[in-house]
Amino acid sequence: MSIQWFPGHMHLTRKAIGDRVKTIDVVIEMVDARLPASSANPMLRELLTRKHSLKVLNKADLADPVRTQEWLEWYQQKEGTAAIAMDSHHSAPARALIEACQQLMPSRGSMDKPMRVLICGIPNVGKSTLINTMVGKRAAKAANEPGVTRQEQRFALQDGFYLFDTPGVLWPRIIVAQSGYNLAAAGSIGRNAFDDELVALELLAYLQRHYGGALLARYPVAENEAELRALPDHELFERIARKRGALLPGNRVNTQKAAELVLQDFRSGAIGRITIETPTEFEEWLATGERL
Ligand code: G4P
Repeated sequence: MSIQWFPGHMHLTRKAIGDRVKTIDVVIEMVDARLPASSANPMLRELLTRKHSLKVLNKADLADPVRTQEWLEWYQQKEGTAAIAMDSHHSAPARALIEACQQLMPSRGSMDKPMRVLICGIPNVGKSTLINTMVGKRAAKAANEPGVTRQEQRFALQDGFYLFDTPGVLWPRIIVAQSGYNLAAAGSIGRNAFDDELVALELLAYLQRHYGGALLARYPVAENEAELRALPDHELFERIARKRGALLPGNRVNTQKAAELVLQDFRSGAIGRITIETPTEFEEWLATGERL
């Protein structure tokens, strides 16, 4: 089974972004550093062919730093796109964004030649957090006054530097089956679109293979990492459920509760700093995986 999800109004967002980029100097695509490829929207690429663009791998504080570095190099070398990683709750990394945009367009950013930057990204990647960190709540509020439509949200980051919020909602577009699972694990698609237990099992299977140590530290359900890695997925899931007390009357496992616990632990970083896809894996899914 794969996760299929087709929220509406994509054509309206496409048109709104297409219109907006005409007057934009740099387009930022913010993705989730734990799943950079799955949290991107391939539609943006088509719209941005003659634009300077910058990938921002946000939530880097939750992601595996080694893999984040791998992704940054992949974007720069393979895709020819400038890329930075950040935790948008903190102002110093957030300000690295201004520098990265200035490097892309050194001729812009003054009062007479202002730099206009558009920030795009699927819901929940952290766009509002970044804007609030950089602009401060007061400025963000001012632009949200009645009469200022969502399409016109513009924030002055410094003299001659303006940030525009995504017009409309840019939903993820799932092109390979595994991306659906990864988006669901991160909580980036509607809950009705997937089954928590299935997503938790997929996630656990991946963590077993790649993050056995972190998994064992969070859930001491085996004597050692080798034993944990060898557990069949349902057995691992059941041991975790019992360890964490996700039980129903009669000592039966409460699979829904156990799945929610595992997903919540992943989303909050309680299992550790984890990235659930690498550039190599993503290339393999594109080449051999189930295309949607
Ligand atoms: P959006 O505008 O792109 O839809 O995303 P938004 O800023 O609303 O962020 C979605 C969630 O991600 C928020 O958590 C936010 O705090 C969190 N977040 C954003 N950037 C980062 C980051 O760099 N690192 C980490 N660890 N988290 C980040 P929430 O629980 O939904 O809301 P809140 O209670 O934190 O406000």
